[in-house]
Amino acid sequence: MKSRREFLKDTCTACLGTAFLGFTFSQLTSCSSLPIYKTNLSQKTVRVPLSNFAASTLVIVRDMQVAYDILLVQKSATEYHAVYMKCSHQENPVTATKTGLFCSAHGSTFDLDGNVTKEPALSPLKKFKTVLQDDQIIIDLNS
Ligand code: FES
Repeated sequence: MKSRREFLKDTCTACLGTAFLGFTFSQLTSCSSLPIYKTNLSQKTVRVPLSNFAASTLVIVRDMQVAYDILLVQKSATEYHAVYMKCSHQENPVTATKTGLFCSAHGSTFDLDGNVTKEPALSPLKKFKTVLQDDQIIIDLNS
């Protein structure tokens, strides 16, 4: 027969394992459906070929020289929004889904334009200017 202490230890370990797996799975599920485009920063701009939008209106742009990912949102054939995936509350990375962004640190949520839909964040996510040039979207990180 297990002691009360052993029972609590076993139960808590199982709960933590389940919680961790559940959290990890939800993170992977929410990220896995959006394509990720890896690129290299050049003169404070990021170039994303339009071909990335063949199957999705949302693309996560990842550059090792940029601290956080950028969610590139196709609003129309000629309009794109670049939303910096850094929480405006306390700078935690946010996660993008097909319907918006959320921060796992304290629960803030944002729409696909980066506007706050649930506090504690009070400010929208930073957005960068984009320019459509030939077959590329250019994200200006200076903007
Ligand atoms: S850091 Fe994102 S909600 Fe607090």
